[in-house]
Formats: sequence, C-alpha cells, structure tokens
Amino acid sequence: MCGITGYIGSMQAAPVILEGLSRLEYRGYDSAGIAVFDGEKIRMEKAAGRLKVLEELTDHGKNMPGTCGIGHTRWATHGCPSDINAHPHMNEENTIAVVHNGIIENYDILKQRLLKKGYHFSSDTDTEVLVHMLTEYYRGNPVEAIEKVMHRVEGSYALGIMFKNHPHHIYAARKDSPLIIGFSDTGKYIASDVPAVLNQTRNVYYMENEEIACLSYEHIRFFNMDSEPVEKTPVTVDWDIDAAEKGGYEHFMLKEIYEQPKAFRDTISPRIKNGEIVLDELNMSDEELRKIRKIFLVACGSAYHTGAAAKYIIERLAGISAEADLASEFRYREPVYEEDSMVVIVSQSGETADSLAALRDAKAHGCRVIAIVNVVGSSIAREADAVLYTWAGPEISVATTKAYSCQLGVLYLLALKLAGVRGRLAKEQEKKMLDALCRLPEQMEEILKNKEKIQYFANHYLATEHIFFMGRGIDYAISMEASLKLKEISYIHSEAYAAGELKHGTISLVEPGTLVAAVATQDRLYAKTVSNIVEVKTRGAFVLALTTWKHKEMEKEADYVIFIPETEDVFMASLAILPLQLFAYYVSVGRGLDVDKPRNLAKSVTVE
Ligand code: AGP
Repeated sequence: MCGITGYIGSMQAAPVILEGLSRLEYRGYDSAGIAVFDGEKIRMEKAAGRLKVLEELTDHGKNMPGTCGIGHTRWATHGCPSDINAHPHMNEENTIAVVHNGIIENYDILKQRLLKKGYHFSSDTDTEVLVHMLTEYYRGNPVEAIEKVMHRVEGSYALGIMFKNHPHHIYAARKDSPLIIGFSDTGKYIASDVPAVLNQTRNVYYMENEEIACLSYEHIRFFNMDSEPVEKTPVTVDWDIDAAEKGGYEHFMLKEIYEQPKAFRDTISPRIKNGEIVLDELNMSDEELRKIRKIFLVACGSAYHTGAAAKYIIERLAGISAEADLASEFRYREPVYEEDSMVVIVSQSGETADSLAALRDAKAHGCRVIAIVNVVGSSIAREADAVLYTWAGPEISVATTKAYSCQLGVLYLLALKLAGVRGRLAKEQEKKMLDALCRLPEQMEEILKNKEKIQYFANHYLATEHIFFMGRGIDYAISMEASLKLKEISYIHSEAYAAGELKHGTISLVEPGTLVAAVATQDRLYAKTVSNIVEVKTRGAFVLALTTWKHKEMEKEADYVIFIPETEDVFMASLAILPLQLFAYYVSVGRGLDVDKPRNLAKSVTVE
C-alpha cells in the first residue's frame, strides 16, 4: 500500500526522502510525490508511474533545495493513478501539504460540507478533504488543527503534514495505518515502515493509534488527541541493512526463497529446548491449553493458506476442531465463539486491515487471540493477547515466501504443543516429529540446490494461459499457495482445486494440452490423487506432478515429475512449496515481469 517518508535535519531533504521512498517501493504504488520547504514556500513535485519519473523530474532530489520535507508513494483507492491524484495534496493557498496512507471512510459527507463552505477540490482523492479541513481548523497551532481533524474523520490514516507557517517542523499522525518515527545525529524521519530508514538509523519510535508527532530540528514530541504530551520509549531495531538489500540476487523474491531454511530454523529452534516445545510467549498454562475446544485460523492470502494447512494438522495431531477462515469473510460472518475457542491471526505485516478487524471482533467477544506475526510492534502484534513472532526478518518482495514458511513453522509448533498437552502423542512419536521438524531446514537446502529441473520446466511454460493445481488435504493447501504465487507474479490464470472436486465441474475446462500441476505428498491420499491424475490425462492434460522420492512410479503416470525428500506428512507443505515458488519465480522472470513489485498489488494491505 502507499508509503510515507519525511525528513528534517542537516542534510538536503529531497534525496533522503526519495531514497526512503525507493526502500518502500516493495509495498506497491502507482504514483509518487514529494514536498519540500525551500526557504520561502512549500515546493511540490509529483508524477504518475514509477519513482524513477519523480527522480528524473527532480534530478534525484538535487534540484529541490531545503532540509525539511515529506514524500509519498500512492497505491490508488479513491481516484485513478494520475499526476493530480498523486500525493502530496496542498490547499489552495499552498500553505499546507499532506501525504496520507489509508482511507477516509466518511470523506463524501466531509467533502459536501467543505464544498458548501467554498473549498475547491482539484483531485478525486479522499485525502484532499484532510487538507481543506486542516485549513479550516488551523488557528496558529498545527497540533490542535490536526487533533480537530482526527476527531472528525472516520477510517484509517497515517499522515505526514507540513505547514508553511511552521517551516522548521513536520507533523505526523496515525490511526490504524502504521507509522514510525526515526532519529539519528543527522536528522529525524517519518516512515511507514522500518526499511525506509534503515540506511539512516535503527532508533525508532512506533507511533500508537490516535497519536500525533511533531518533529523539529532539535526535538521529537508526541501528543494524544487531547493535545496532551505523551512520553514514548524508542526501540532499537535489530534488522541490519543487508537484510533489506538484494545481496547479489537478481530479485528480493529469489533471495527470500533462498533465505527460507535459515528463517525457518531461526523461528523454530529457540522454541525447542531439551527436546520439548516451549511456547512461553503464549502466556497459557498447559491446563488452559488443554481446555481449548475450537481453533479459528484467520488470515488473508498466503497467510490464510498456512491456516488452511494447519487446520488439517491441528485436527490430526491435537484432535481439536479447527477452521481456516479468510479474515475478510470472518469479520462479517458472525462466527460462533464458544467459551473455549481460540482465534489465531496469521499475518506477515501485522497490519492487514481485515485480519486486524477479525482480531478486534474476536476480542470484543471475549475470545482469546493469538497472533503469528513477522513485524515486531505491528498493530496485530500489539493488540493480540499473545504473539508468536516469526523470525523471517524483513520481507521485501510482495509475493511472500519466507514469511509463509516461518508461519508454517510456528503453526507446527502450536499443533505439536497442543497434541502434547492433550496426551495425543506418545513420547517416541513426539521425538520422531521433533527430529523431522528440525531436519526440515536441511531438506529445504537440498531442494533449493536442485533448482534446474524446475527452472527448465518453467521456461517451457511461459506462454501458458491457464494452469490448474490440485491436491488433497495438506496438498490442497499447498496447491492454493502455489496457485496464488503463480498468479500474483506471472499474471497467468490459475486455479487450485481439491483434487476430488475437479470432476464436479472444473474438469470441463481441461482440454488437450492443459497444464495440471498435481501435488501428491500425502501418503494416505497418494492413490486417490493418482486417480485424479489419470482422469485429467485421459482428457489430454499435461501433468506436472510433485511427490516424494519413494514414489518413483509417478513417472509412469505424470508427464514431468519433481521429486522432494520425505518428511512427516504434516510437514510436507514446507518442502513441497519450494519448487512451486521457484516455478512461479522463473515463469515471471521468463515473461519479463516485475517480480518483486507485481502490478496492482501491495505488500501490506492496510485498507479493507
Ligand atoms: C502473498 O504473496 C501476498 N502478497 C498476500 O496474499 C499476503 O499474504 C496477504 O495480503 C496477507 O498479508 P499479511 O500476511 O501481511 O497479513
């Protein structure tokens, strides 16, 4: 989604702001803009398209003098991507400039009122109401004006604001959209996300909802919505800059695919001590864990697919009824929370609007909420009753890979822990499972070393128009993730089907040459999936199968087979997804697409 940066300090502001925006490109955007106080006035430049258009326009910021400014990359919601709709937005007198992430839900009512009062709108954005409202309420004190606006707008926002009458300050405010404030010896920064400032500082404040920040050359001050000062403690971010760089890889996605063994290991190892799973972060006694009767796994996109796999795993290992839910559906479907229900929200960013709303609904109904989150200090992490962090490090590519793998890792631990306290696993079984779990990173490395076979196959399918993925049980969950990965970065139409469901309609789309990718890693279901392979082959499909080494005979059934090492059935998603991520990656590269920043997509979806 949109990205905000801002800077005030001893350096020229525009190059710092543009550099920050380039580090937020991964979030997805379709226009960009910048406003800098040049000593006399607020000068603004903005343009539709990639950041490089703005960089050319401003000679990489060099032709914009000044040491105080704000910048923005916009992902269009209200109003098409265009120069005019790009942020910043300024009032008619050019005295107030605003950049905004999020959505002002009551903007139409506010706009009608402002139009009646004689304000003129030049864009189609919801953001412009904020500029005119600030103009209306400004009586010499910016914090008071911002506070008045915040009391009147509904929706989500992170804001960067400049007032011409206060040329030595920039202002920030947030509600339900992330914003951090950084500081170093050379200046103060605002940003939507930590990677934007990592090359300047690791010292940051996380802004809370309904807080306002005022940054000057000397100070950072925080206020609540009653203009009362707020004391905050800064945090030192331990991600280093290399984690947010490509490190020799052509794309972040490829780098992140190859980081999976390490990220997975970093996520599970600290939670296995002396052969026991230790999940102290849950803040729940074994007795409390034993009482859980129902688990809702709620998330969006790939995170939802980890929930879809965990549903099978939790039911099988722990014997607890589990449901995987899309957060956007869950939040409106009036779920029946029972006394001993638990909601698990899974999210890389920790800011996904629908997942956050689902979390709040569950909490409002008195349900315990556990979050599995990658971004430390994010909204979901802060609002959940307990957080199990995934230690994937910063994930830059829009298409998630390493965060997905780490989410699976945490869900395995949770399932095994629940199984353990409920006495569902004999000691030797538990040990066997833990050994298999700890071996996964090594097996991942082995798969990633042998990428050529999948790369070769991908290069032969660059022109394909439709692909079907199918599998049963956990293989179905893997298929959903493989299909999403391919769609989002290759723009090839693809569908994932529960293999047994194909013949209830979808098989009519299979014709000679249709590519069907069959995932068959689950021993109990192997023969069933083979029957489904035969069915589609009979109709002329070309079948790519993915199975384990022991099923050598698959070569007789499918046209092309990718073999992966053996592990426990319940952990198969962690191995099977790797060749399928690589497949999506190489198809996207082969089609000459922007792998890390696919069209229309945003890394962190902070609007509904
Ligand atoms: C996956 O590749 C996606 N880009 C997307 O589906 C993502 O998983 C989803 O938007 C959820 O995001 P979150 O994990 O940050 O909540």
